[in-house]
Amino acid sequence: MNKLKILNIVGARPQIIKASAISRAIAGEFADQITEIVVHTGQHYDRELSEVFFDELEIRMPDHNLQVGSGRHGRQTGLIMERIENVILNEKPDCVIIYGDTNSTLAAAIAASKQHYPVVHIEAGMRSFNKAMPEELNRVMADHASTLLFAPTNTAFKNLMAEGFRPENIAPYTINNPRVFLTGDIMYDNSLFYADLAEKKKKDFMEGLKLTESEYVLATIHRDMNTDDPERLTAIFSTLRELAESNQISMVIPLHPRTLIALRNRAPELYQALSDSQFISVIRPVSFLEMIMLEKKARLIITDSGGVQKESHFFSKPCIVLRKETEWVELVKNGTVRLADADPAAIREAWDYFMNNSEVLHYPAFYGDGKAAVSMLKEILEIFRS
Ligand code: UD1
Ligand code: UDP
Repeated sequence: MNKLKILNIVGARPQIIKASAISRAIAGEFADQITEIVVHTGQHYDRELSEVFFDELEIRMPDHNLQVGSGRHGRQTGLIMERIENVILNEKPDCVIIYGDTNSTLAAAIAASKQHYPVVHIEAGMRSFNKAMPEELNRVMADHASTLLFAPTNTAFKNLMAEGFRPENIAPYTINNPRVFLTGDIMYDNSLFYADLAEKKKKDFMEGLKLTESEYVLATIHRDMNTDDPERLTAIFSTLRELAESNQISMVIPLHPRTLIALRNRAPELYQALSDSQFISVIRPVSFLEMIMLEKKARLIITDSGGVQKESHFFSKPCIVLRKETEWVELVKNGTVRLADADPAAIREAWDYFMNNSEVLHYPAFYGDGKAAVSMLKEILEIFRS
């Protein structure tokens, strides 16, 4: 039987991490059935947002790098579309796998579907119901250009039903007759797979930061709504500083370059104060194994990241989310994520609650069995192997 040829499309940091779960499963169980071609759009290009993950995780090195770099939405998305269309037409894959909700996701979905190549969307059905987020537009449109949609949660699956996707569809599947499938979350696969390795390999990293288990707070901020609005940016970082200093607790902040640029340009005095604080360590973005260690040992996590709030759950840590809403609504219902937006009072209230009640929190298994990648690849083979 012919091997199935897939294009595995990455561009931004979390997509490289997600794609490693698929790459690893192909290399492990499906090597004689699937040929994988990795395409990196080049949306992220700094070593610590890209190369570090190829070095550390079990992902195939990119066969194609489109090198689009940074730019406004239209230019970045347009460049990816133009360049990826050529790759698709040359490679002639049986299907194209896309992840999440970035500009790389949308561009690949449009380019592939318009050339009549089936799109497989991993992390389908996530919704914030806030179309002011670029990610919401990207994910809705990517879902509607897909032939096979893998929903990570029950809520995501229901969101797809509400938009007219039908679980009762039967093969042959096409963009007009798509297949929706509830699989669990491949990031849970990754967290389980890499947690022990992180413990073995990243002891020195933790010692270097001089952090003591359960005696520090981990924070990440990168979402455009928080970096590009000076009021929100200032409200968030002033509150973090005040909380770390008044409670005399260490806070480590691996800073996305977007946020570093925003702080330097929009709030230089605050940036200086953060850098000077004896309780706050602003560091460069860290590798995935380092991030796992920081998450596993933290007392509390504060973030606006989709991935990090979920990992807080995987590692049984309470989490304050600096957004008005989240796609991972089960975490809020569970009481282990609190939405605080960029509101200092709400951030302080959530901080006080979690610092005093962490022992009563529970972390049920919302995200599958850690074998989502294998189920996805079985389904892909079933549907696309001619
Ligand atoms: C993108 C995604 C976001 C995702 C995030 C993961 C979109 C619209 N947004 O946001 O959903 O959560 O990736 O981290 O696709 N930059 C660098 N070096 C790099 C890459 C970016 O310095 O390697 C800086 C540039 O100034 C750039 C800015 O970061 O303009 C924003 O990068 P971009 O890829 O447009 O969006 P992210 O904020 O990273
Ligand atoms: N991450 C990382 N190093 C960092 C910050 C985040 O490895 O310095 C990982 C994190 O563990 C998670 C993913 O990157 O798996 C989340 O990416 P990000 O927050 O950039 O984007 P989002 O998930 O919000 O799209």
